[in-house]
Amino acid sequence: MSGTGKVVCVTGASGYIASWLVKFLLQRGYTVKATVRDPSDPKKSEHLLALDGAKERLRLFKAQLLDEGAFDSVVDGCVGVFHTASPFYHNIKDPQAEMLDPAVKGTLNVLRSCAKVPSIKRVVITSSIAAIVYNGRPLGPDVVVDETWFSDPAFCEKSNLWYMLSKTLAEEAAWKFAKENGIDMVTINPGLVIGPLLQPTVNTSVEPILKLINGAKTFPNATFRLIDVRDVANAHVLAFENSSACGRYLLVERAVHCSEVVQALRELYPALSLPEKCADEKLSTPIFQVSKERAKSLGVNFTPLEVSLKDTGSIDAVTNGCMYFPYKMSRIVRHQPSCSDPTMEINFIHNQIFQRRLVSHSIQDSISKLKLQNSYGHHEAASQKDCQDLVEELYEVQSFEGIQVV
Ligand SMILES: NC(=O)c1ccc[n+]([C@@H]2O[C@H](COP(=O)([O-])OP(=O)(O)OC[C@H]3O[C@@H](n4cnc5c(N)ncnc54)[C@H](OP(=O)(O)O)[C@@H]3O)[C@@H](O)[C@H]2O)c1
Repeated sequence: MSGTGKVVCVTGASGYIASWLVKFLLQRGYTVKATVRDPSDPKKSEHLLALDGAKERLRLFKAQLLDEGAFDSVVDGCVGVFHTASPFYHNIKDPQAEMLDPAVKGTLNVLRSCAKVPSIKRVVITSSIAAIVYNGRPLGPDVVVDETWFSDPAFCEKSNLWYMLSKTLAEEAAWKFAKENGIDMVTINPGLVIGPLLQPTVNTSVEPILKLINGAKTFPNATFRLIDVRDVANAHVLAFENSSACGRYLLVERAVHCSEVVQALRELYPALSLPEKCADEKLSTPIFQVSKERAKSLGVNFTPLEVSLKDTGSIDAVTNGCMYFPYKMSRIVRHQPSCSDPTMEINFIHNQIFQRRLVSHSIQDSISKLKLQNSYGHHEAASQKDCQDLVEELYEVQSFEGIQVV
């Protein structure tokens, strides 16, 4: 294993991308110093501590991006630092405090700590396509966007694109600091990241896909540039291990309109109830091409969109005539061979959950945010009742709120 005996740091380790990165690093034999904001919160740490090799080689540290010097002791002794922590969510009330400061000042805070440690060979920063494409240049099916593109902060600000602005300013500041301080730095610039979750809560990029398979009436009039989370995490490792890696690596497997995502899901799972109509007919961001050249040169093998979509949720469960369970529960369902009897399947899940006490704190929270869905029309009478019973029991045992049987 190429990481044996080497110590690396991952910031924001409990996040969607970082959790996969920690998993891959541990698999490769690295010792990982992982920062989280609250190590005592099981939702942020349980899934990391359960990873293979975690017991021996994962250490959790508490660190906030805006606490000056908070990363000093964490990066000390490391050969590599992966900086992924940055806020990524919608509904921002105060862009400066919530998004821009943690992204920009936080990145500089981490880099300042790195600059003090001579053993650090390279810093890999998780940037985004958000720092590449938002500059007002015309886009269209014949336009190929590549790593030479930079988003324009003024354009982002004028358009209230606060997340895009945060990633653009953070990457800009990081390059400047790295050059001035002789830090070997590489950035990974993914599109919208989808694929299986290790963490127990829904993250921003997976939400739109889960909404589609969870009973949305319409699909958004939006275009997505999608990439699998495993490819993103792998690219981070490659960018660190490959000594000739440099600059930026843009990662997009496919650019699609949401209608194509719905169509792909329909083809994968004909039994799934999916939205038929687009939410509106306004002009959406046009489709454009994204260069894969540099990512391929790094050694990234792109996971096809269909595989990523399939793995994003437990859609398998629905095709087996049962319920849709997200996250860890989805894995429980997958252990059951294809089952045509919904009652049997429900009993199986029920037993798995309660007898083996798989409903941990972290799962409780995630279930409460989502629906249980029974989408098998012809078994409706029998399975609806079983679902109801199960839901009632879930309420009783855990007092989950917000679970619905559709
Ligand atoms: N997902 C995508 O589609 C996508 C695409 C391109 C780039 N990216 C970038 O990838 C990185 C990870 O994103 P993700 O999708 O994995 O999102 P995520 O699951 O929300 O992870 C974000 C991480 O950042 C941490 N964080 C946020 N604010 C922080 C603060 N003030 N101090 C310390 N930690 C803080 C969070 O910590 P807590 O766990 O404590 O909340 C969390 O671990 C981000 O830099 C994001 O911009 C994501």
